[in-house]
Amino acid sequence: MKGMVFTEFIDMVEQRFSPELMDEVIEAAAPPNGGAYTAVGQYDHHELVKMVVELSARTGVAIPDLVRTFGEYLFGRFHQGYPHLFEGMGSAFQMLSSIESIIHPEVRKLYPDARPPHFDIGGDGVNTLEMTYRSDRHFGDLAEGLIRACIEHFDERIALAREDLVDAPGSVIRFVLTRQNA
Ligand code: HEM
Repeated sequence: MKGMVFTEFIDMVEQRFSPELMDEVIEAAAPPNGGAYTAVGQYDHHELVKMVVELSARTGVAIPDLVRTFGEYLFGRFHQGYPHLFEGMGSAFQMLSSIESIIHPEVRKLYPDARPPHFDIGGDGVNTLEMTYRSDRHFGDLAEGLIRACIEHFDERIALAREDLVDAPGSVIRFVLTRQNA
C-alpha cells in the first residue's frame, strides 16, 4: 500500500489523539522500518492493519470506527493535496462514479506502483448510485469513510446503505447511495 496512506494515518493519530500514543502504537506494532514511512514508499498493508489494532486496543474505539474515521480524514487530505482531481466535480455522484474512470487512473499516473481497489459502478446515477467494492485488502471501512466524506463535501442529502456480499467480510461490499428528495 502506498506510503502516503501510512503517513496520513500517522498524522491523523498524532492530531486526533497524541504523538505519544502514536509512538506507543508503532512500538507495539513493530513495523520493519520502525515507523519511518515515506509518502512515495510502498509497504505491506498488514502493517497498517496492525497499527489500527494497537490503536483500537489503547483507545477502546472499535477497529471499523477507526478505519472509517481515517477514510473521512483521508478524503479531506486528498482534497487539499490533489485539488486538480476535484476540478469539474459538481456532485458526490459525479465524483464517486468517476473513481474507476478518472480518479484512481490519475492516481496510477502519479504513482505507477499504486494498486487502488476495484469498484463496479451501477444505478441510474441520478437518484441512485451503486458502488461494489472489491479488494483483497478488506478496506471496505476505509471506502465507507471516503464515500461518507465525499457526500458531506458536496453537502448533499444522500442515504448510504452497505451490504457485505461474501463470507470473507470486507472483500466485496455493495454500497447503495440514494438521493433523498426534500
Ligand atoms: C472519492 C472517493 C474514493 C474512494 C471511495 C476511494 C477508495 C479507496 C480505498 C478503499 C482504498 C484502499 C485500498 C484498497 O481497499 O484496496 C484506496 C486506495 C488509494 N486511493 Fe482512493 N478512493 C477515493 C478517492 C481517492 C482520491 C481523490 C485519491 C487522490 C489521491 C485517491 C488515492 C488513493 C491512493 C494513493 C490509494 C493507495 C493505493 C495503493 O496503496 O496502492 N483515492 N482508495
